[in-house]
Amino acid sequence: MRTTRSTTEKKPAKTRKPALHPDIREVLHTQEEIAAKVKTMAAQISRDYAGKEVILVCVLKGAAVFLADLMRQLTVPCIVDYVNWSSYGTSTSSSGVFRILQDLEESVESRHVLIVEDIIDTGLTLHYLLRHIRGRNPASVKVAALLDKPSKRKIEVHTDYCGFKVPDEFVVGYGLDYDQKYRNLPFVGVLRPEIYAGSDTPPDKP
Ligand code: IMP
Repeated sequence: MRTTRSTTEKKPAKTRKPALHPDIREVLHTQEEIAAKVKTMAAQISRDYAGKEVILVCVLKGAAVFLADLMRQLTVPCIVDYVNWSSYGTSTSSSGVFRILQDLEESVESRHVLIVEDIIDTGLTLHYLLRHIRGRNPASVKVAALLDKPSKRKIEVHTDYCGFKVPDEFVVGYGLDYDQKYRNLPFVGVLRPEIYAGSDTPPDKP
């Protein structure tokens, strides 16, 4: 028997506007904007690597979400590897002295490497990672970063594929964390400063 919806029944939840996370001051890039940008970046990368195989080197942990979306849009054959470099200093700013928690498993010699990063901040992680990989004689090395925070640069680094430039704010979501939290947010947003005020590990301020 056919049933009709009563006039007092609430609309399905999916038609309501999604609420912002209470710890987020402002959404910089929505889920939809990020998806469109990742698709554009993947199309460009697929064109540039046509006829080649690429090793995607994902910089853990922040770039894992970006990698997962990017690789599924690529039309060229790819292999995935992971590195995890921990910087001494506060939990959110690079001192430039790194501890390698996880190194490459794949040989990159004579192969095409694409480093996949969540955000370029001081540039130190990328600088040392590029040096590390170039020392292993790859055929080529390029960089794809979802976000770029140019105002904080301590060393010049070249990014071949860049999603969005972000202002000098501490951002979280879409893989990026503060104190290991907020990685699961589907958007990129500015963390409210009161969340880390008085903390032992505040983000590096301008
Ligand atoms: P860099 O060595 O200073 O370029 O820092 C790179 C790493 O610092 C990134 O891969 C992130 O893990 C982290 N990072 C830098 N800025 C932010 C931010 O605004 N939010 C979250 N993590 C960040």
